[in-house]
Parts: sequence; structure tokens; C-alpha cells
Amino acid sequence: MDLIAQLRSGLPEEAVLTDPDVTGSYANDMASFCEAGIPAAVVLPRTAEQVQHVMRTATALRVPVVPQGSRTGLSGAANASDGCIVLSLTKMDRILEINPVDRIAVVEPGVINATLSRAVNEHGLYYPPDPSSWEMCSIGGNIGTASGGLCCVKYGVTAEYVLGLDVVLADGRLLQTGRRTAKGVAGYDLTRLFVGSEGSLGIVVRAVLALKPEPPQQLALAAEFPSTDAACAAVCEIMARGHAPSLLELMDRTSIRAVNAMAKMGLPDSTEALLLAAFDTPDPSADLAAVGALCQEAGATEVVPAETAAESDMLLQARRLTLTALEAVKTATMIDDVCVPRSKLADLLNGCAAIAEKYDLTIGVCAHAGDGNTHPTVCFDAADPDESRRARESFDEIMGLGLELGGTITGEHGVGILKKEWLARELGPVSLEMHRGIKQVFDPHGLLNPGKVF
Ligand code: LAC
Ligand code: ZN
Repeated sequence: MDLIAQLRSGLPEEAVLTDPDVTGSYANDMASFCEAGIPAAVVLPRTAEQVQHVMRTATALRVPVVPQGSRTGLSGAANASDGCIVLSLTKMDRILEINPVDRIAVVEPGVINATLSRAVNEHGLYYPPDPSSWEMCSIGGNIGTASGGLCCVKYGVTAEYVLGLDVVLADGRLLQTGRRTAKGVAGYDLTRLFVGSEGSLGIVVRAVLALKPEPPQQLALAAEFPSTDAACAAVCEIMARGHAPSLLELMDRTSIRAVNAMAKMGLPDSTEALLLAAFDTPDPSADLAAVGALCQEAGATEVVPAETAAESDMLLQARRLTLTALEAVKTATMIDDVCVPRSKLADLLNGCAAIAEKYDLTIGVCAHAGDGNTHPTVCFDAADPDESRRARESFDEIMGLGLELGGTITGEHGVGILKKEWLARELGPVSLEMHRGIKQVFDPHGLLNPGKVF
């Protein structure tokens, strides 16, 4: 039996798409410079059993499988390859349980991050990981890339909230990892292994997620700085003095201007760096006053605390818009994701400015400053081959700088296709060999998202 007939034998008619005009629309995620092929089929299962059928079929016929969530990824990890089965988990989007006593949610992978956040809020609970794409991105995708977000500086990243998983393995078996208890140390931590594995080890079909009590509404301030050095010094002071902001973000001048140009948000155009800090403590105004004073000591020219939640939201909105706004500067962007120890943040930002000058390019930087996680964003004209080449080279040089500073090539976006060569540099030969060994155990025929990660 051929592939399509075999897939159809265990899936409803509408769950197998083969029209090239339709399947073509599933070819890419949101990364630049990543090749994408034409899938043989896109399948949209609604149950774990249907996913098992897809994987059994793929293994029997040795057809590669590319798992996909909402395709908001920025590393090409969800890009199709020629002749593959695209396994889209978007239809498995049920919230199965919200349990305030155990403080967990049990969800299918296609649940949208914001949908889950709002649903748990109704129970007085909080699911912290909040990527900028939270209105679109799925929990399965968040698990696949080990996504971060804005509140990670206080609450940590996706990995810290995944307690247990149901995973369909390459051969169709169902693996259960982890637990729904608050504690648990039985066996190797296979749950954590799957978080950030970018679809290369198995297909997550159900997740048990830890929840927190909903904190008070956060309140933010904006501080304007005459230099990135001064802004980074403020970040270091805030963290060294033991403050626990629920958000600590930095926007450089290029980012501020781009956001103003797009959304007329009235951010201070002439400032070199803008720091946004927020607290969701019982008395956020007091915390903001203390942090505002630290900013001033570090050289801030202006500190503007938001007085209402609406004003705070507007500041966060400006930050969340940054990458979209930078896309409008030229025809294309490459968004980097280098994370350094926060004590090295200034070195990284100054290095990016030097790289922008060297390659004669616009590179806007916004950063989850409290985590040392930066998004230097190279703006370029994709129709100009020379500019495109310089963009790619500068992007690579930024990763090199990150590694030199003791950082990592990706804090939260993953490796995918985009950073594959760089992963080997970061890991070194011994770690890479261990990675290959693990891959061999889970995916002996190399069918799960081949050509990605390493
Ligand atoms: C952000 C995404 C790109 O921080 O990680 O906006
Ligand atoms: Zn980010």
C-alpha cells in the first residue's frame, strides 16, 4: 500500500491533506534562511491513537515525520522536508483538566499558550511561560523548543513547568514520562529530555503542567538611559541587590525607533536604551520606587513608573511589538537569541554594535535583560545578495561572541536548521556523541525531524 492510502486507513478523510497548494502552506515556520521542502502529506490527527497510526505508518514505510505546532518558531525546526509527513498537532487542542488542589493542568499539545493562561486564571492559577507569540504559539511547540518569554526572569522557562508527558515514539509505542505529583525522582528525567528536543525524539500528545497561584497584577516602569553600559549596569545592580522583578526587558535605540515608527507609542526616541521593569508583588509601587532609584544611580535620565495596569500593559505591548517593528525596517530580519551570563550583557550589546558597524547593517537589540537573553535582530534587504550575505555573517559572528562570553547560541528559540552548525561548536565532541546515542535509542531509523538540531 502506498503512503497516502496507508495513512488514510487509520485517519478520517479530512485529516490527510495532499493538495500541494494546501500542503505548501505548512512548509515553513517563521525563521529566515532555512530551507523547506514539499511534504508528501500533512496529517491533522485528533487523538493519540491517530498519532500512533501515523508513526507506525512512517516507520513501516521509512518516511520522515516533521512535527508541527503553530509554526511560530524562529529556527526552522518545523520546516517540512521533501516527501515527509508533516504531523500537525493543531487539532489536538483540548484542555483536559485544571486541578487547583494539585496545581496542574493536563493539556493536549495544540492548546494555544494564551488560551491556557486565561483558562487557568479563571481558577486563580497562573501558567507563567509567556513567549511574545503567546496568542498564537502552542504548548506542544513551547515544549518542543523549551520556550521562554518575558516573565522567565522570575518564574523560569517552560522546562520548569512540564511535570509529565505522553509521547508517541517513532515506532508508535506510547511512552509515559514523569508524574502529576509535586515531587518525583523515580528514574531518569525523561520528561526534561523531551523539553527542547525539537521533535527529534518523539511526538508529545499530552502534557501535565505545573501551575502557580495567580500573582497580583504587575506594575511596570520605564527607565531611559544615555548608554547601553548604564542600562546594563542597572540590570546588574537590580539582580545583585536581590530584587525579583517579574519582568526586566531592555530595548535599544533602534528597537525603540522601530516600534514608534510602526505603532506611534510615544517611546522616547532619542534614548540609547530603555529598561522596562515590573513587579507583581503585594506592593509593586514600593519595589518600583526602589528599582527606579537604582536606575537613577546607574545613570538613568528619566524614570517613568506606570500608574495603572493599563499603562503597564502598554509598555509591555511596545516590547512585544519590537520584532515585528524591526521587520518593517528592511524587507527581512534574522532574529538571534544569544544568552550570556547577565554580568556580560554590556559586552554582548557593545559587541553587537561593533558588528553592526563592521558589516554596515542595522541591528536592533531587545533583550530579556534580567536573563541575559538577547535578541539582536539583523535587518536586511533579502533581494540584495551582498546585504543578505553580510546579514548571515553578522548573525554568525554574534553567536561566536556569545560563546566567547560564556553564553549559549540559543536561550529560548532552539537550534532547528538555523543554528545546527553552531550547536556542535557549543556542545563539543563528547556531548555531541551522547546526543547521537540518545537519538539512536529513540529514533533508530532517523525518521523524526531529520536534518534538524544536529
Ligand atoms: C521575543 C521572542 C522573539 O522575545 O523571543 O519577543
Ligand atoms: Zn524572547
